[in-house]
Amino acid sequence: MPRVSQLTPQEQAKLLAMARQAGSKAYAPYSQYRVGAAVLTEAGNIFVGCNVENVSYGLTICAERNAIAAAIVGEGGDKMKIKAIAVVNELDTPCSPCGACRQVIREFGSQSVVIFQGEKGIQTISATQLLPEGFAF
Ligand code: THU
Repeated sequence: MPRVSQLTPQEQAKLLAMARQAGSKAYAPYSQYRVGAAVLTEAGNIFVGCNVENVSYGLTICAERNAIAAAIVGEGGDKMKIKAIAVVNELDTPCSPCGACRQVIREFGSQSVVIFQGEKGIQTISATQLLPEGFAF
């Protein structure tokens, strides 16, 4: 099993708070479902993202992938590694990353921790637990 990076309770709380703040900026006029995400990189920086919808619904981009894109812009695609990523919605209802985002999280953080609002409160699990047998070649 790969090592799962441990976060302090303070780091986890900060990441969740920043994800929540980012979600308040969401552009979600179609679903009214506002999501925020925050990426903590191995280098120690935090980058955030929110969901951005489109009238052509399939063009919508999730909060997680926008946060990861911001982290890549900040640190470089060849260097940036996700240590942890937090995702919440403004209603505090269950909101785990969608399948597409799980694959993208795996790309940049196969050893990362994913923090999200689950059925029983905040869950902290590894990216590999969230995407077993994720695609790679
Ligand atoms: N959404 C996210 O941003 N992240 C997720 O993990 C699940 C879904 C967004 C996409 C869309 O704008 C809205 O939530 C409803 O699906």
